[in-house]
Amino acid sequence: MGYELPALPYDYTALEPHISKSTLEFHHDKHHASYVSKYNDAVAGTDMDSKSIEDVIKAVAADPAKAGLFNNAAQAWNHSFYWNCMKPGGGGQPTGALADKINADFGSFDKFVEAFKTAGGTQFGSGWAWLVLDNGTLKVTKTGNAGNPMTEGQTPLLTMDVWEHAYYLDYQNRRPDYINTFLTSLVNWDFAAANLAAA
Ligand code: FE2
Repeated sequence: MGYELPALPYDYTALEPHISKSTLEFHHDKHHASYVSKYNDAVAGTDMDSKSIEDVIKAVAADPAKAGLFNNAAQAWNHSFYWNCMKPGGGGQPTGALADKINADFGSFDKFVEAFKTAGGTQFGSGWAWLVLDNGTLKVTKTGNAGNPMTEGQTPLLTMDVWEHAYYLDYQNRRPDYINTFLTSLVNWDFAAANLAAA
């Protein structure tokens, strides 16, 4: 069946000046493409090939012998999800049901921002910060390397890549600046709201 590398949902220059064309070319065309290619090579001809990538991720997450397959499957999925978590002219605050639920579950939007910044800023080394729905409650979480909250039974609503390849060309070592910019100028709350509505 295979997993297809999705095109970026916007032009390579669409997130400038916050994320450069060069970052998106390397990140999508090299890093993401490589995960997808390795995932497809790994499942080709196996019984995993007939499963959805989400089912493969959940099936092999706890099996150390399948760590390579898990890493490429989860990184293929995580990046497809991440591209949709940003948009040109993004940032600001959510509205509607998602805004209400953030206020209810975190206390305020500012409390969510604080938790999300902390998750992204304290993920040691490579990984991801997430807004998830966990048994009906919104939570902020972080995962190392290729980790994905769906392996914990949580539903991802939003993610931010904090691997250095996501920001190093534009921000060098200044991960906090990238995180701030993600929240103020890039985050696509419409996508997170649609994921909440579908959960
Ligand atoms: Fe990445």
